[in-house]
Amino acid sequence: MTGPESGEPKRSITLRFLAEPGDVNFGGKVHGGAVMKWIDQVGYTCAAGWTGTYCVTVYLGGLHFLAPIHVGDLVELQALVIRTGKTSLDIAVDVYARDPKHPVRRRTGHCVIVFVALNPAGKPAPVPQWRPEDELDQALERYAVRLAELRKQMDLEMERQLGR
Ligand SMILES: CC(C)(COP(=O)(O)OP(=O)(O)OC[C@H]1O[C@@H](n2cnc3c(N)ncnc32)[C@H](O)[C@@H]1OP(=O)(O)O)[C@@H](O)C(=O)NCCC(=O)NCCS
Repeated sequence: MTGPESGEPKRSITLRFLAEPGDVNFGGKVHGGAVMKWIDQVGYTCAAGWTGTYCVTVYLGGLHFLAPIHVGDLVELQALVIRTGKTSLDIAVDVYARDPKHPVRRRTGHCVIVFVALNPAGKPAPVPQWRPEDELDQALERYAVRLAELRKQMDLEMERQLGR
């Protein structure tokens, strides 16, 4: 048996809701900050579901806002585990939106978030391991590894340029 009834950790999760008038920016579109909050929420839900523990965000990278979201749109956020480390895990998040009166959705954003699982003492805790099962999984894991390498390079460059 697979799925929620199997007791196995779920690798992916989708959250859906309507963009409300309170989420709007001065340009009349949904505020980038609101989208970032939803991204963090779906990422956290996925990370906590996979690890079975409380998790904290340590990095959010590669965030692209590809298209605007309108008030009244049905917003869909999909989160997927794409790499596990010792105590950290990478979650890819895709954001989609559509007018609820129309069937076609638009991909409006994407990013990768790194979470760390914490034990009750607030220390990093081991995470259940995920292994890629097909070529797409392998490509996603390679993408996460490559992003981590680029992250390190950016940190080094920042140190070199700014001395911190
Ligand atoms: C999470 C925290 C306790 C980890 O402490 P730490 O001293 O960095 O722990 P470690 O150095 O052992 O790193 C733990 C893991 O996190 C990863 N990690 C830490 N910082 C990272 C970063 N900026 N980017 C990517 N990965 C990171 C490490 O690579 C390691 O992964 P691994 O165990 O899979 O190899 C600490 O960084 C923290 O409290 N950060 C603030 C989190 C927070 O407040 N988030 C916002 C609100 S949720």
